[in-house]
Amino acid sequence: MNNSSVNEKEPKHIAIIMDGNGRWARNKGRPRASGHQAGFRTTRDIVEACARRRIEALTLFAFSSENWARPANEVGLLMDLFLRGLKSEVGKLHENGVRIRFIGERSAFSSKLQQEMMAAEDKTKANSGLKLAIAVNYGGRWDIVSAAKTLAKKVKEGQIDVDDINIELFSQHVSLNDVGEPDLFIRTGGEMRISNYLLWHLAYTELYFTDVLYPDFNEQELDNSIAFYSGRQRRFGKTGDQVSKTDA
Ligand code: FPP
Repeated sequence: MNNSSVNEKEPKHIAIIMDGNGRWARNKGRPRASGHQAGFRTTRDIVEACARRRIEALTLFAFSSENWARPANEVGLLMDLFLRGLKSEVGKLHENGVRIRFIGERSAFSSKLQQEMMAAEDKTKANSGLKLAIAVNYGGRWDIVSAAKTLAKKVKEGQIDVDDINIELFSQHVSLNDVGEPDLFIRTGGEMRISNYLLWHLAYTELYFTDVLYPDFNEQELDNSIAFYSGRQRRFGKTGDQVSKTDA
């Protein structure tokens, strides 16, 4: 739990749902592919901007477990973009001290893509800069069920007692357990939904929704979202008066 950030005005961990690539392309009379390519360029800029701002962690929703239901050619195109993107970007991210991790059920991806993911994680694992997590074939419910299964196995094998299971222990068994919960959640593209993203982690996260379509999201928009966060009073269940006293 990151209750220690009650007084802190800068988010340490930002999570983004990058929505609106398809509509951005349609508005311009272009194929959806061009929207995803533009979204990829935006991602590059936002990762750089977060690293420059010394944000500690950035978690991006690149492909949800529900995205497999898209037309096969769009899924193929996204996979191709991830593969090419990994190949072209990892070297530079590494030079900039970024640590890359993937969260989600990756066994559904091609072995080539799985190898590239592992190679990127391995190459960057000792880096101490921005902790970048990319959610692929990820679903918040899957994450919670996986943690429950792991804990159930530990109980069955006698490693832990049922009564040892509490929020703290559960948190250690979901994805991002070494990064913690996002302080700020951003969703572009106008929808006001969580869409099965980081369900466990978003319990106390500040939620920021913008109509800006993801390819148009830029450093200025990132700063707007950070300014929104800075203006919020995080109470974690306390009263406003209690928190103001702690802030003083
Ligand atoms: C949502 O827009 C976007 C996606 C499902 C894919 C996200 C991928 C990228 C931004 C590019 C690659 C990023 C990485 C990290 C490699 P949408 O297609 O749902 O847009 P729509 O709602 O307007 O149709």
